Amino acid sequence: MIQVKNLKTYFFTKKGTVKAVDGVSFSIKEGEILGIVGESGAGKSITGFSIINLIDYPGKIVDGEVIFEGENLVKLPQKELEKIRGNKISMIFQDPQTSLNPVLTIERQLIETIYYHNKNLTKDEMRNRAIEVLKKVGIPSPEKRLKNYPHQFSGGMKQRIVISMALINNPKLLIADEPTTALDVTIQAQILILMKKLCRDYNSSLILITHDIGVVAQLADNIAVMYGGKIVEYGKKEDILYNPLHPYTKGLIECLPKYNEDKKRLYQIKGVMPNLLNLPEGCYFRDRCPEADERCITYPEEKKIGDRRVSCHKVTI
Ligand SMILES: Nc1ncnc2c1ncn2[C@@H]1O[C@H](COP(=O)(O)OP(=O)(O)O)[C@@H](O)[C@H]1O
Ligand SMILES: [Mg+2]
Repeated sequence: MIQVKNLKTYFFTKKGTVKAVDGVSFSIKEGEILGIVGESGAGKSITGFSIINLIDYPGKIVDGEVIFEGENLVKLPQKELEKIRGNKISMIFQDPQTSLNPVLTIERQLIETIYYHNKNLTKDEMRNRAIEVLKKVGIPSPEKRLKNYPHQFSGGMKQRIVISMALINNPKLLIADEPTTALDVTIQAQILILMKKLCRDYNSSLILITHDIGVVAQLADNIAVMYGGKIVEYGKKEDILYNPLHPYTKGLIECLPKYNEDKKRLYQIKGVMPNLLNLPEGCYFRDRCPEADERCITYPEEKKIGDRRVSCHKVTI
């Protein structure tokens, strides 16, 4: 469905070059859910923006390909990209506040999104489609609620509306960047279950970006673990969760409450992710890694077994 090959997005700042995404590769099949997980600053969001080629100065996609329906989105002119964004590929962000226009009714916003990509539909057809999709995301009495403004909905309901807007043109791929981080824990679970169901119903693929490995544990088919702009481990969800190979992945899983109920205090990976302007020589995780040894002063080559990939000297496959 979509193939990302050796994608590199760098920011050319006064302080130096930030290699936010540095050689990321993965592919997603139709209807599949890929979870991208990692701490803040790992390059997850920039990976999402790079896929739809939405990188602004001083950032630039410097290498790699994003192949979608036979075309390389990295090389596509902006006019062509605008036909794809919000249509065949749509994106949801963390804060529903920023995705909805406070001064327009929900109806107006949904219809504008439909109209932008479907100039041939009548007003009634668009309105019916808006009602149908609001129903799908669980907004009660959608006919009435169409006339409301965003502030008349709760946070969870607003995020449902954002999801309806992202799905309204029946995208092949949905990119959701921390879609539930701004919501209460109970609402989070409902929205996640809803997103999974909708992707299955619409046969859309989903890239779910999150710092929370618990979220991808619920939803994903495959998981990519990012660290310092690179994927350090990739594999099927079950393999990653039950047999993590990279020490960073092991650390993330240790942080999950349900995996260490018996311990009094929650585990934390020591230290912080290095500044991407100032990456250490060798493995970027070396300073924080409980298993590091002298081999780690060089960056490990990626090892592959089937569709499992891991970049760590310690792993022997
Ligand atoms: N406009 C920008 N200018 C310079 N650096 C940026 C810019 N946007 C993002 N970055 C850098 O790119 C890196 C990855 O960012 P991001 O993808 O947002 O991380 P994540 O989503 O994993 O938290 C960060 O180190 C961040 O500082
Ligand atoms: Mg982010």
